[in-house]
Amino acid sequence: MVQATPVLLVLSLALVAPGLSTRKCVLTGRWRNDLGSNMTIEAVDSKGDFSGSYHTAVADYPSTIKVSPLQGSQHRTDQNRQPTFGFTVNWNFSDSVSVFTGQCFVDEKGREVLKTMWLLRLCVGNITDDWKATRVGTNVFTRLQPQKE
Ligand SMILES: *[C@@H]1O[C@H](CO)[C@@H](O)[C@H](O)[C@H]1NC(C)=O
Ligand SMILES: *[C@@H]1O[C@H](CO)[C@@H](O)[C@H](O)[C@H]1NC(C)=O
Ligand SMILES: *[C@@H]1O[C@H](CO)[C@@H](O)[C@H](O)[C@H]1NC(C)=O
Repeated sequence: MVQATPVLLVLSLALVAPGLSTRKCVLTGRWRNDLGSNMTIEAVDSKGDFSGSYHTAVADYPSTIKVSPLQGSQHRTDQNRQPTFGFTVNWNFSDSVSVFTGQCFVDEKGREVLKTMWLLRLCVGNITDDWKATRVGTNVFTRLQPQKE
């Protein structure tokens, strides 16, 4: 038994390792980012299009936050197991729109991670204020695991 343990360990690593590298990153599901915002992405259709909802944890006026719809598109490649994507969030509690672009990765521990970059367009009163109307940032999303009870 004592001798068998290292052999079993090596065997199981050999079986697990290729599984990690070929695992596909899937956008559909519930995600949470580094700011505590949550989003749900529905099924991705055959054209790569998807919709969903976004519940932000941050806003200029947090008390006004409402769940907002998102619409996106995933790059259509069967080969690429770590697809690129983009989506728009049409904030339904302010006159603003955000666009995200990103890639769905499987990290070295086999976890799915969405690395994204976004632009937020704020509505300003007139063209003179255009210079200050766009914000930029990054967000990292990980899959929200279903609560086990
Ligand atoms: C995100 O989801 C977690 C877990 O369900 C919840 O505790 C948290 O309040 C949610 N936050 C937002 C901003 O929806
Ligand atoms: C805001 O978006 C959510 C999620 O898509 C939707 O269910 C809700 O009806 C919208 N609310 C308003 C006021 O537009
Ligand atoms: C734009 O809005 C600012 C602030 O309200 C105002 O001072 C300025 O005169 C406006 N400019 C134009 C071109 O309407």
